[in-house]
Amino acid sequence: MRLAIIGTGYVGLVTGTCLATLGNHVACIDIDREKIARLEKGIMPIYEPGLKEMVGKNVRESRLSFTTSLAEGIAEADVVFIAVGTPSGKDGKADLTAVEKVAEALGRSLDSYKVIVTKSTVPVGTTERVKGIIEKCQKKKAHFDVASNPEFLREGKAIKDFLNPDRVVVGVSSPKAKEVMERLYRPLQRVNRPIIFTDIRSSELIKYASNAFLAAKISFINQISRLAEKVGADIKQVATGMGLDNRIGPRFLQAGLGYGGSCFPKDVRALVHMLKENSCSSSIMEAVEQVNREQQQILVHKAKAALGSLKGKSIAIWGLSFKPDTDDMREAPSAAIIGALLKEGASVSVFDPVAMEEAKKIFPSITYGDDPYAILKDAHALILITEWDEFKEPDFKRVRSLLKAPFIIDGRNIYDPQEVSSFGLTYIGMGR
Ligand SMILES: NC(=O)c1ccc[n+]([C@@H]2O[C@H](COP(=O)([O-])OP(=O)(O)OC[C@H]3O[C@@H](n4cnc5c(N)ncnc54)[C@H](O)[C@@H]3O)[C@@H](O)[C@H]2O)c1
Repeated sequence: MRLAIIGTGYVGLVTGTCLATLGNHVACIDIDREKIARLEKGIMPIYEPGLKEMVGKNVRESRLSFTTSLAEGIAEADVVFIAVGTPSGKDGKADLTAVEKVAEALGRSLDSYKVIVTKSTVPVGTTERVKGIIEKCQKKKAHFDVASNPEFLREGKAIKDFLNPDRVVVGVSSPKAKEVMERLYRPLQRVNRPIIFTDIRSSELIKYASNAFLAAKISFINQISRLAEKVGADIKQVATGMGLDNRIGPRFLQAGLGYGGSCFPKDVRALVHMLKENSCSSSIMEAVEQVNREQQQILVHKAKAALGSLKGKSIAIWGLSFKPDTDDMREAPSAAIIGALLKEGASVSVFDPVAMEEAKKIFPSITYGDDPYAILKDAHALILITEWDEFKEPDFKRVRSLLKAPFIIDGRNIYDPQEVSSFGLTYIGMGR
């Protein structure tokens, strides 16, 4: 099939590349000229394992191309995906400016039948609104259908998730659009990935409900972790005991610094807004947000409790991205923690395998190290924020010899407290 993806960011680039891998011809469109120029030279705008190689292969085999021209990009397409950003706007409401601009441009350019698909995470009713905007802006009355196809990929595992999804959700309102989308996803159906068709509004809500549920699971275990700490239980053992219940499951039950990234925080806020707008109680989702905000401050309190005051203290941090295997710093817990440490008068040195360039845009004047150990010399504490693989088995003897004071604050509970203590270090975890 011939496809166009509007918005060549995280989701757009991964979607376009994976759909090209499945044999389609894909044009990736973006208004960011520099991004497109760099992509044409094989330079990726994001760090995502395996993506560069996959983009290169599809470009060489003429299935993937990049353009800044929407009219040119969509001209031949059977399906057009809208994958632009939907950030938090005022009061947490999803800002749909980019989606609406794309819909207007689509209306001006559309001259043959296409299925226009919202892949961006959009509030319920947006796909229908896109339809209305296109119709209003159409110069030539070409027939088209709209569909909703929310994306569930995880950064860091985006390619695997796109090609082996737990499920593909497609919201449609016409048999023709259903047929087109069924044909598009047939290769995934062949490898037993479930494709579910729903009405458009349900599809839009499935995305928010899924992200909010996962965020709630994280805040739930984080709240229990505070109790575990007070009553002398170990949250890791509690989570294992809970997770073995099939009805609960072990995933998203790791106590730590809470969720961050480009999706959960903004999607929970947008859901709160949608609930309120429809006169529904938003109490669960508001509590989820509050617990998450507090969790990052709890770590700063732990550092303060260990060191007395943070003023003039030197703190070393391992990991900056909101999770491992990505350089994405959007709403990363590290940003809130570093901000709070600086406010308390501490000096901060950091190391992250890939996210330091992104972090420099937020904190240009903290110290960035060349390797994890370089930043430990004379630090009063090491704080582990992102659980990159390379931090999982550190040389604790070396850590102890470099640190000025013996504190390790394990924000993700990845270390064994007894092992850490055996090196003369003081272990501080989250809920242990
Ligand atoms: N990042 C994720 O892990 C993830 C996962 C699932 C769903 N989503 C959703 O997918 C959507 C996109 O997220 P993202 O992380 O890829 O965003 P992003 O910011 O990485 O990318 C958005 C891209 O759209 C481009 N753009 C903006 N306006 C445009 C226009 N008028 N025409 C063409 N291009 C335009 C931007 O230049 C940018 O390159 C959001 O709604 C997000 O919630 C994201």
